[in-house]
Amino acid sequence: MIVELVGAGYAYEDGPAVLSGVGLGLAEGRSTALLGRNGSGKTTLLRLLSGGLRPQAGQLRLHGEPVAYDRAGLTRLRTTVQLVLQDPDDQLFAASVEQDVSFGPMNLGLDEAEVRARVDESLAAMDIVALRDRPTHLLSYGQRKRAAIAGAVAMRPRVLILDEPTAGLDPHGQERLLDVLDGLRTTGTTVVMATHDVDLALRWADDAAVLTPGGLRTGAAGELLADQELLDAARLRRPWGTAVAELLRAQGLLGEDEGPRTAEELAAWTRGVARRGLSPIVPLPAPGSPPRPPSRR
Ligand SMILES: Nc1ncnc2c1ncn2[C@@H]1O[C@H](COP(=O)(O)OP(=O)(O)OP(=O)(O)O)[C@@H](O)[C@H]1O
Ligand SMILES: [Mg+2]
Repeated sequence: MIVELVGAGYAYEDGPAVLSGVGLGLAEGRSTALLGRNGSGKTTLLRLLSGGLRPQAGQLRLHGEPVAYDRAGLTRLRTTVQLVLQDPDDQLFAASVEQDVSFGPMNLGLDEAEVRARVDESLAAMDIVALRDRPTHLLSYGQRKRAAIAGAVAMRPRVLILDEPTAGLDPHGQERLLDVLDGLRTTGTTVVMATHDVDLALRWADDAAVLTPGGLRTGAAGELLADQELLDAARLRRPWGTAVAELLRAQGLLGEDEGPRTAEELAAWTRGVARRGLSPIVPLPAPGSPPRPPSRR
């Protein structure tokens, strides 16, 4: 594990315990979706993982060693782990987008050309090159969100932690972000994302971590997000993909270990079924649309 919380507990001043006995390990190159209802402790957990909060019970380990919460220890943690805050206004502070995104890499002591290259790359990845010289406070919410993520990406952390990064992004922005995260994954970066989007979690994550009143459950995303009891406990909607897979299994059309996670995967699966000679699944007509003409096969 690169970073690991062991038996972690946390309560805010005068408040009840938000987290207790929480264990979460982040392995090299894995992507984890963190899910849970409003107020369940996702942001608190991410701040514990990135050193912004110190667990009151248990410990945070970096490469197996307990993190020291002094300047040296926290610097070591923060060069490995980067957190992008839920609210971009808590993250952005420099006058312009370029200044903001270049601040972190400059602080790493990189030379000017390297800083420039990283800033160019991150701005392009988040599709905000045209906003380079704009004052951050004049940007739209989604643009500020993209700028905040670009700043973290430019640090090239081993572990990138994103607190609801897709909230407020338009569909194109979401796809762009997922492309960026896929790119990071191929370089071995570990990514954790808090999200309320179960479909996104199923499609994107290797692992899921689900906060329920009974504690944190961790495991393979496909397994946890098909566990109705867990989804109910966490008040999560069933992901589209697991619902479709269950229907197909009930019809004997799909094996236990198969299951489309996206519309594209479902389309590919139906093509495969058609090739194998079974009747392909015909999408149901949208409500109110004219009846479908009979198939000419
Ligand atoms: N700074 C704070 N001081 C006191 N209580 C806090 C503070 N921050 C969060 N809390 C409380 O801790 C609990 C967990 O909050 P947290 O922000 O971690 O939840 P979350 O899962 O991220 O919620 P959301 O989905 O709304 O972002 C909530 O009950 C919240 O009211
Ligand atoms: Mg939160």
